[in-house]
Amino acid sequence: METIKLTNGIEMPLLGYGVFQVPPAEAERCVSDALQEGYRLIDTAQAYFNEEGVGSAIHKSQLSRHDLFLVTKVWISNAGEQKAAASIDESLRRLQTDYIDLLLIHQAYGDVFGTWRAMERAYRDGKVRAIGVSNFQQARFFDFAHYVDIKPMVNQLQCNALIQQRTIEPLLAENSCRMMAWGPLGGQGVDGIVKNDTLAAIGSRHGKTASQVALRWLTQRGIVAIPKSSHRERMAQNIDIFNFTLSESEMAQIATLNQHDEGTINFTDMNFVKYLIETYG
Ligand SMILES: NC(=O)c1ccc[n+]([C@@H]2O[C@H](COP(=O)([O-])OP(=O)(O)OC[C@H]3O[C@@H](n4cnc5c(N)ncnc54)[C@H](OP(=O)(O)O)[C@@H]3O)[C@@H](O)[C@H]2O)c1
Repeated sequence: METIKLTNGIEMPLLGYGVFQVPPAEAERCVSDALQEGYRLIDTAQAYFNEEGVGSAIHKSQLSRHDLFLVTKVWISNAGEQKAAASIDESLRRLQTDYIDLLLIHQAYGDVFGTWRAMERAYRDGKVRAIGVSNFQQARFFDFAHYVDIKPMVNQLQCNALIQQRTIEPLLAENSCRMMAWGPLGGQGVDGIVKNDTLAAIGSRHGKTASQVALRWLTQRGIVAIPKSSHRERMAQNIDIFNFTLSESEMAQIATLNQHDEGTINFTDMNFVKYLIETYG
């Protein structure tokens, strides 16, 4: 598995397995399948309610903890220094581990600075190996990174061949922050990528599917991709992307597919923010 180096020197796999919307009862089976298919990075979150299943799969696998890279996220309901600190300990318990490889603030709402102080402390105490954010769009990321002691090492954003996140790239680079792509295949119920004609045509030249081209394209940009599938054959397909290379002209052709550069969610939209805060805050 190819890796990237975070600003503190730790190595992070370029491809992982995401478990958003994997029901708690299925999480252990799915993660066990993913580990057997060769995935070593698992992306979960407090809000997915499946950290326990992830923990069981890891516990039951024969793999050394040091060969795995576990990512989880602090949810809005746990924002603030004390609640975030307690929630980190709860995540550790549910994941059956004594450290998390990468801990992210899931959404940029509530007392994010308090949450960050708890995360910085967990980082210094060795409970967490790296810290970052998720869904911090350009202006929010700028404001946040400007005022914190330890700068976010990763920003997990909606990113794929149709949502390319080019605008935020220079800001992340200035802050030595790596991008991690959620929804790398377009997310649930969206066929825009897995059935994309351009990606399929490029794939046919390499004996690969449109999905594999989409994931390879992200990783060739140095962006960590975390596709989700409940199906083992798709898990196998999605990780089988390190034995071909997209040419410069193919990369450029995919760059023309960009439709919604900064994503399909406006994180400052009043109705969206009101819903999240009133439901979870
Ligand atoms: N930070 C955030 O706010 C945030 C938000 C969303 C997601 N995430 C993370 O990012 C991960 C991935 O995002 P996502 O789950 O939204 O979307 P995704 O990985 O882009 O797409 C998942 C969908 O694609 C299907 N699929 C997977 N592989 C396929 C293949 N080879 N061919 C055809 N269809 C395929 C899956 O169906 P089957 O399962 O039926 O195979 C599922 O419906 C999540 O699991 C989560 O860890 C983070």
